[in-house]
Amino acid sequence: MKQKALFNESLHKWYNLEKRDLPWRTKPSAYKTLVSELMLQQTQVKTALPYFNKWLIKYPNIQSLAKASEKSVLKSWEGLGYYSRAKNLHKTAQALCLLKKLPTKHEEWKTLPGIGPYTAAAISSIAFNEPNAVVDGNVVRILSRINGIKELFTSTAKAIQKIQPLADELVQVKNPGDHNQAMMELGATICKKGSPSCDICPVSKYCYSFKHGCASEIPLFESKKIEKITIDRAWMFFEEKLLLYKNPKSSKRLANIWEMPSLDLIKPIKSKKLIFSKKRSISNQSITEKIYSLSISTNKAIKTPPNCYWVKITNLKTTPLSGPHAKWINEILINP
Ligand code: ADE
Repeated sequence: MKQKALFNESLHKWYNLEKRDLPWRTKPSAYKTLVSELMLQQTQVKTALPYFNKWLIKYPNIQSLAKASEKSVLKSWEGLGYYSRAKNLHKTAQALCLLKKLPTKHEEWKTLPGIGPYTAAAISSIAFNEPNAVVDGNVVRILSRINGIKELFTSTAKAIQKIQPLADELVQVKNPGDHNQAMMELGATICKKGSPSCDICPVSKYCYSFKHGCASEIPLFESKKIEKITIDRAWMFFEEKLLLYKNPKSSKRLANIWEMPSLDLIKPIKSKKLIFSKKRSISNQSITEKIYSLSISTNKAIKTPPNCYWVKITNLKTTPLSGPHAKWINEILINP
């Protein structure tokens, strides 16, 4: 970009005036940045905020997180999804406790569990003032629009590869942490997907897409094929205990996370009644889950299926459930 210094000046001035007051921005530390950046991957600020605040009360520092059980860490993450982030955060805290001193460099952070180039750049810049550029969806959007990049990206990884050198040029400033946060803030609040607010954008005068009126069409991504999935689930409640399935370690997305069991695990089924049907989307899947109530007169009426356990209702508060299942179980218990 030709007017690099002017772009940065306008961006930084705007950020200093308009930035949201977010808890990880007051007295930033490596730990706060680590937690917030992992939470903010695939999650919006609004959703992550209450989790972040509770997290810092429960695990105020790296040592307290390292000492916690995985079960308690997963319970605290319940509802945020993508649970490998929580497991990696836990493992990273344990690895950091074994070191004499916290790492400061991008290359060192990148060797830790779950820390990719994005998180390593965020931590090293925000907590240690190292000039490493973060490139997430926000930054891809801003720099594609500013530079009028109209190529069709086949994946986020391909887009990041293209945009990283442009972001690296801009981050060579006195305060790279604030610069990175300013880029993300601009993407989250002004240079939004679909309907950018170009009329109030502090850097519109440097923007190709604003000049040519094509910001809402940039960047271009190949559309994802949506896979439709239907899962039937069993609601089996007996003597204040609920039958739950613990996803095995081999589960890619939900290892050690508990859910209502799939109906085809239950044998025999004498009769079933639909309680409700819920639809949700996660990455490229559209999932319909139908919850059926199975009436049983004794918990011996079925053979307890593999990985399933009768969980006392009073123990649900320490059982890490998937977010939607936690909500649905609550709904059914309140309104049976
Ligand atoms: N999204 C990811 N990281 C962020 C940050 N530090 N501030 C605002 N939005 C973000």
